[in-house]
Amino acid sequence: MKRFFRLIFSASMPLIVFLMGSNNIPSLRELADKKGLLLGTCVMPNYLDEDMYVKTLLANFNIITPENHMKWGLIHPERNKYNWDGADKIVNFAEKNNLKVRGHTLVWHNQNPNWINEIKTKEEALNVLKEHIYTVVGRYKGKIYAWDVVNEVIDDYGNFRNSIWYQLCKEEYIDKAFQWAREADPNAKLFINDYNIEPINRKSDALYNYCKDAIKRGVPIDGVGFQFHIQGDIEPNYESIRKNMKRFIELGLEVHITEIDVRLPSLKPSKEQLELQGKIYRRLLELALEFDKARVFIFWGLTDRYSWVPHFFKGWGSALIFDENYQPKPAFYSILEVLQEK
Ligand code: G3I
Repeated sequence: MKRFFRLIFSASMPLIVFLMGSNNIPSLRELADKKGLLLGTCVMPNYLDEDMYVKTLLANFNIITPENHMKWGLIHPERNKYNWDGADKIVNFAEKNNLKVRGHTLVWHNQNPNWINEIKTKEEALNVLKEHIYTVVGRYKGKIYAWDVVNEVIDDYGNFRNSIWYQLCKEEYIDKAFQWAREADPNAKLFINDYNIEPINRKSDALYNYCKDAIKRGVPIDGVGFQFHIQGDIEPNYESIRKNMKRFIELGLEVHITEIDVRLPSLKPSKEQLELQGKIYRRLLELALEFDKARVFIFWGLTDRYSWVPHFFKGWGSALIFDENYQPKPAFYSILEVLQEK
């Protein structure tokens, strides 16, 4: 009983009322469904044990991405051992709640297990990669809407990133990864995902050139993931982003916004900072909705409580649409308003 009264008077009460719809504010999820938009967040398995997290997620989103638990370090910790616990929990939760899943990610230079450094030849590297992709994609066949087949394979100068995969196989591993993913699950959409490629710049030029040539070579690539980890103290160049999205779409590709967060240069942002952040989210969602082939918009986190941002960018934070206490921020209302527009 005591717990019940504590709950009634807790700071989170207005949001509970809000989510239950008793004040007639619709959830983002219904509006996104109506617009044919997949709106989502990345998740960690342990968050799915938290009531408030799950309520907020289910009221607002129709797609999720495992934040870490499909990466090699966690899912394939030893050469002959997979650990499916976290990824299975997320995929099962999605199935039960009718959410789509973006698989993230099959090849990356980061968060890899140490044993990968034992690989010494191209032949061995390609064998290991093929086995990994067949096993992971095969396990979740039919359950994954889209895979980030390769992640961040272009470096900040517009060259292929000098990862262990590149050192041993040059860019051949990228083509092959797509081919194996297609063989393992012919119905999953296959993506190349990267950061700082949202406007036109040397990195997005390099990615564009790779995609253009890869399509000519018959590589089964369906789309490009624009991560969108951006600063919220200055507005991005929307026109350049629009032109960039358009050129990828004209190649026949889809564009997914895969990891958006708009970080602020303060952990206690002012009203003005939050409003500017809301404006940026609004303009970017409006921009995506201009294109029929950009119908996925995923936040890199549901609540500021669990965002990766303050750990990586000292002094920056408050990047998401719900604050640490699951309260909707001005950015939430920006998204709501865009989804309510006809
Ligand atoms: O699991 C360990 C835990 O056992 C340990 O106690 C703890 C101590 O630091 O670390 C835990 O691992 C952390 C892991 O997240 C899970 O929380 C790692 O240190 C930490 O480095 C890791 O960060 C992840 C980061 O990728 C790694 O580069 C972030 O959560 C995740 O949000 C971030 O996601 C990436 C995308 O995959 C690709 N695009 C960029 C994006 C942001 O960096």
